[in-house]
Amino acid sequence: MRILFLGDVMGRAGRRAITERLGALKARLRADFTIVNGENASGGMGLTGAHARLILDAGADCVTLGDHAFDQKDMVQFIETEPRVLRPLNFAREAPGRGARVFADPRGRKVLVTQVLGQVFMKRPFDDPFSAVDAVLRAHPPGGLVQAAVLDMHAEATSEKMAMGHWCDGRASLVVGTHTHVPTADAQVLPRGTAYQSDAGMCGDYDSVIGMDKAEPLRRFLTGMPRDRFTPAEGEATLSGVLVVTDDRTGMATAVEPVRDGGRLAQTHPAG
Ligand SMILES: [Fe+2]
Ligand SMILES: [Fe+2]
Repeated sequence: MRILFLGDVMGRAGRRAITERLGALKARLRADFTIVNGENASGGMGLTGAHARLILDAGADCVTLGDHAFDQKDMVQFIETEPRVLRPLNFAREAPGRGARVFADPRGRKVLVTQVLGQVFMKRPFDDPFSAVDAVLRAHPPGGLVQAAVLDMHAEATSEKMAMGHWCDGRASLVVGTHTHVPTADAQVLPRGTAYQSDAGMCGDYDSVIGMDKAEPLRRFLTGMPRDRFTPAEGEATLSGVLVVTDDRTGMATAVEPVRDGGRLAQTHPAG
C-alpha cells in the first residue's frame, strides 16, 4: 500500500495548498491512503469543523490533530460526528473523540491510524505515550487484523520521537513526527521494518517562523515582550510530509521518502 502523510496544515496558506494541490499530489504519488495533520489549519491554532471538512473533501482520508486539538471550540462537538478526525490518544481521559481508528483504502485494505502526544517540552503533562501506543498496537497487529498501521507522534523532542520509532519498530508501518513544523532529513526504514521520520514538516509558508508571520516572533525574541498576536504567514505553502510503501502481507515498510510539493521548500529541494 502507498500511504501519504502530510504534516501540520498551517492557516489559510496551508488550507489553500491542500485544496488546490492535494488531489494532483496524490495522483502523482499514486497514494492509496492519505493522512493530513490539521491541528493548525484554522488561524494557526486548532481546526474548525468547516476546515476539517475542507481537508477531507480535498482528499484526506483521515485528519489528525495534536496539542491544539480543541483550540477551536466547535471541534469539541464536531469530532463526535466525524470519525475521520482523530485527537491524540493521551490528550485527556475525558476528552471527546478518539485517538485511534481502523480505516479502509479503496481496495478494502485496513489501515490503523493513531496519534499520541509526547511529554518532553510540551505545555501540559500528558500521560505516558509509550504505554498508550503499546495497547493500540497490540490490539491491531499489522499483517493480521490490519494491513498497515500509522502513528503520528506529535512531540517537540526528536529524542522522544526516535525512541517511539524504535518502540514501535516491527509493529507499525510508519511512525512519523509532527508538531515542530520543520521537516527532518532522517527518513529511514528501521531494522524491523517500520518507516520513520522525526518530523513531517508543515503544510505552510516556510518564509515564516514555523508558519507564523515573521514580525511578531522576531520582536518577541529581540525585545522579550509580546506586542501583537501571532498570525499565520500568507505566502505560498509547501505541502510537506512522507510517502511510505508497505507490504500488505506483513504491514512493514519497503520504502519511505520525504515529500515536498510547491512553495519555498520545493524550490530549494527540486528533487523532492
Ligand atoms: Fe502544529
Ligand atoms: Fe502541536
